[in-house]
Amino acid sequence: MNVEEQLDFIEKVGKINAGKNLKYTIYTMGCQLNENDSEKISGMLENMGYSKTENMEDADVIIYNTCCVRENAEDKLFGKLGEVKKQREQKGTIIAICGCMMQEKHIIDKIKKSYNFVDIIFGTHTIHKLPEDLYNVICNRKRIMDILDIDGEVIEGLPIKRNDNIKASVTIMNGCNNFCSYCIVPYVRGRERSRDPQDVINEVEDIAKQGYKEVTLLGQNVNSYKGNGNLGITKFSELLRAVNKIPGIERIRFVSPHPKDFSDDVIDAIRDCDKVCKLIHLPLQSGSTNILKVMNRKYTKEQYLELANKMKERIPGLTLSTDIIVGFPGETDEDFEDTLDVVRQINYEQVYMFIYSRRVGTPGDKMENQVPEEDKHRRFDKLKALVESQIDENNKKYVGTVQKVLVEGKSKNNEEMLTGRTDSNKVVNFEGPEDLIGNVIEIPIVSEHMWYLKGQI
Ligand code: SAH
Ligand code: SF4
Ligand code: F3S
Repeated sequence: MNVEEQLDFIEKVGKINAGKNLKYTIYTMGCQLNENDSEKISGMLENMGYSKTENMEDADVIIYNTCCVRENAEDKLFGKLGEVKKQREQKGTIIAICGCMMQEKHIIDKIKKSYNFVDIIFGTHTIHKLPEDLYNVICNRKRIMDILDIDGEVIEGLPIKRNDNIKASVTIMNGCNNFCSYCIVPYVRGRERSRDPQDVINEVEDIAKQGYKEVTLLGQNVNSYKGNGNLGITKFSELLRAVNKIPGIERIRFVSPHPKDFSDDVIDAIRDCDKVCKLIHLPLQSGSTNILKVMNRKYTKEQYLELANKMKERIPGLTLSTDIIVGFPGETDEDFEDTLDVVRQINYEQVYMFIYSRRVGTPGDKMENQVPEEDKHRRFDKLKALVESQIDENNKKYVGTVQKVLVEGKSKNNEEMLTGRTDSNKVVNFEGPEDLIGNVIEIPIVSEHMWYLKGQI
């Protein structure tokens, strides 16, 4: 794949658009990888002469970057498409859809059949071809479908327009090889492809020079990252150590690691690297060994607990967050009790809870012993109550402590307040002068609330 060719198209479209004051808007669904892809799409669009608007009616290009990890995303997308049809008819707005959902055949069929006004459809492997697609739509008013169902190459050298100026995400690998039996991601993102360590380091150095303070390394399975040996980096622990040395960066986070790949060298690197935050996301999914086996997670309840305890022993001050699915096919009340048991034992800092959602094409969807909706919801509510009581208890422990907070900006709900996050990713709101934004400062915590802590300087 030739990036130069796309940069040429960026220039060509830029010339056509010059002086027209055109605008784009982008709706992003799904995970941080999709957010990061949207930043690349924004980068290309801005270089083609479009500026960003939050107002759909002002947009000349509307992009939907979709997710399909759970249902309801579909209804959301089709609802939105219904809304923009008229705008396209009236002012010729270009409508483009991309992202994970576009790698699903039944979705493409539905768009072709019922939403044939969409101008551009591109997949997760062809994001970089947006300039060429857009050029063809503008010049030939031709509808474009640019989807590859093979694994794309790792594309380097495209522009990027980031959403934030203090925290940045850097994708280190694409795709997933794990095929957890509930999950659509391996089918829509393809196999694991790691970026060249040199490119990752260059990107982090670059954002550090621009003044960013925090970087999150992204991938579906970051701890199976495989470097090609450039800079002496072949694995994730080595990459972490290299990123830790970059001046200017003060905090490093990463999502998501897989418990099965959490080797000792990764644990040691987290312990040794002062900038790596000591809140680690360790997806559990289920606490039942039986369910974990059918989920194809490749660890047992005991192995997970052993790993978590080993990490806590070796890394002082470590806290954990996790993802949990309730109501996977075959899950009994007893299995669910195992999940609650792990949650009680680990006492997570944060739990992302999901009700199992059948995904077409995954083994889970074909299983006959689907859990009735009411059982799923009953279990979800029970888990939620436990998690919230734990968060409440944990928040109390912060009161009276002094926390290192990276100040991110003004609070969204209250202009008078500044907001930031602790190393453990807790939101801290406090009053203070604006020139603190972008700094890590020590703040005494004076009170706690469900979703934030209050600080006083
Ligand atoms: N690769 C990451 C995250 C993938 S998707 C990881 O392995 O942790 C994010 C989360 O969505 C998953 O961790 C899982 O908890 C949830 N999820 C994935 N597929 C799901 C499904 N079919 N139904 C409900 N939740 C799902
Ligand atoms: Fe999905 Fe499992 Fe891959 Fe995560 S590791 S993306 S849950 S298949
Ligand atoms: Fe969704 Fe794709 Fe991420 S399916 S969760 S946007 S990888």
